[in-house]
Amino acid sequence: MREIFETLADELRRASAEGDGFVSLDDESIAILKKFANAKPLATTGDTGFVDDVEEVKFVSQTEVEKTKFVKQVEKKVKVVDKNMDIAPIPNPTPFKLPEGDKQTRWNALRNIVLSDKVCAEHLRPEKNIVFGVGNLDAKIFFCGEAPGADEEIQGEPFVGKAGQLLTKIIGAMGLSRDDVYIGNIMNWRPECPRGNRPPTEEEMRYCLPYLKAQIEIIKPQVVVALGMTAVNGLLGVDPSRRMGKVRGKWQTYEGADLMITYHPSFLLQYATAEMKRLVWEDMMAVMERVGIPISEKQRGYFLPK
Ligand code: URA
Repeated sequence: MREIFETLADELRRASAEGDGFVSLDDESIAILKKFANAKPLATTGDTGFVDDVEEVKFVSQTEVEKTKFVKQVEKKVKVVDKNMDIAPIPNPTPFKLPEGDKQTRWNALRNIVLSDKVCAEHLRPEKNIVFGVGNLDAKIFFCGEAPGADEEIQGEPFVGKAGQLLTKIIGAMGLSRDDVYIGNIMNWRPECPRGNRPPTEEEMRYCLPYLKAQIEIIKPQVVVALGMTAVNGLLGVDPSRRMGKVRGKWQTYEGADLMITYHPSFLLQYATAEMKRLVWEDMMAVMERVGIPISEKQRGYFLPK
C-alpha cells in the first residue's frame, strides 16, 4: 500500500509539474482513497508510512497531523471527477453554414449561431451566458483556452477572471493589448460541476470544436497558442500518453496556422515554479518572433528565475 501511495504522489507531482490541473479517478480508486482517508492510525511499529493491506487500509505510526497533512496535499492536487456525475449525453455537433462575405459578416453570423445553439444553452446554469471568442478579426495570434469559468460565464467573455487577468498581463508584456489578438476557448459553456470547475469531457469538446475551428478559419491567424493540456486535447484529440513537458515550446501546425503549446495561466497562478514561468515567456517570445514582433533587450530579460 505504501508503494501505491508513493507512486500516486509521484504521479500527481509529475502531472502537476507538466501542467495537468486535474486527474480523473474511477470509482474503485475513489473508494480506496476514501478508505485510506478514513483509516485509523496504528502505532504498532516504528515504521512511518502505509501497510500493504488494500482490504483494510491502515496507517503505521502516522500521527493524525501527518495523515491530515497528506490527505490535504492529495486533495489539493486531485480534483475528483465523479464519474457518476450526471453529465447529460452530448449529441453530434450541429451542422451550420456561414454566409459568404467579409470576416466581420462571417464572424457575426457564427457568433449568432453559437449564441443561439440549443445544446450550449441547455448546459448553462440559470442566468449564465454562452461564451464566444473575442478580439481582433485580423489578429496574427489566436489564444485558445479550455472552457469558461465562473467569471466568464457571468460576463459572457473568455479569460476575464484571475487566469484571464494573467493572460492579459502576458499579452501586455508582449507589447500588445487584448484588442490586438483573438481569444477563444474550446468550450462555449462552463462544464457543469457541483464543486468548482471540471475539465470538459471528450464529447463536450467534440461538440464545440467546430465552432472554434470556424473562428480560426475566419480569422486565419498566423499562430494559435494552445493554453494548457485540455486545450491541446481539444484541438489535437485526447492522447493519454501526451506530456506537457514534451509538447510545450515546440512548433506544430493546426488548421493552416503554426501551433504553439504552453502552460495555462491558471496553472501558472497555482503551481508553476519560476522556471516554468520563464518557459512560458520563452514560448511567447518564439510566438513574437514568428509573427514579426521585435523583442527588446528588456523583454528578453523578463521572468528570468532568480
Ligand atoms: N480558463 C480558460 O481556459 N478559459 C477561460 O475563458 C477562462 C479560464
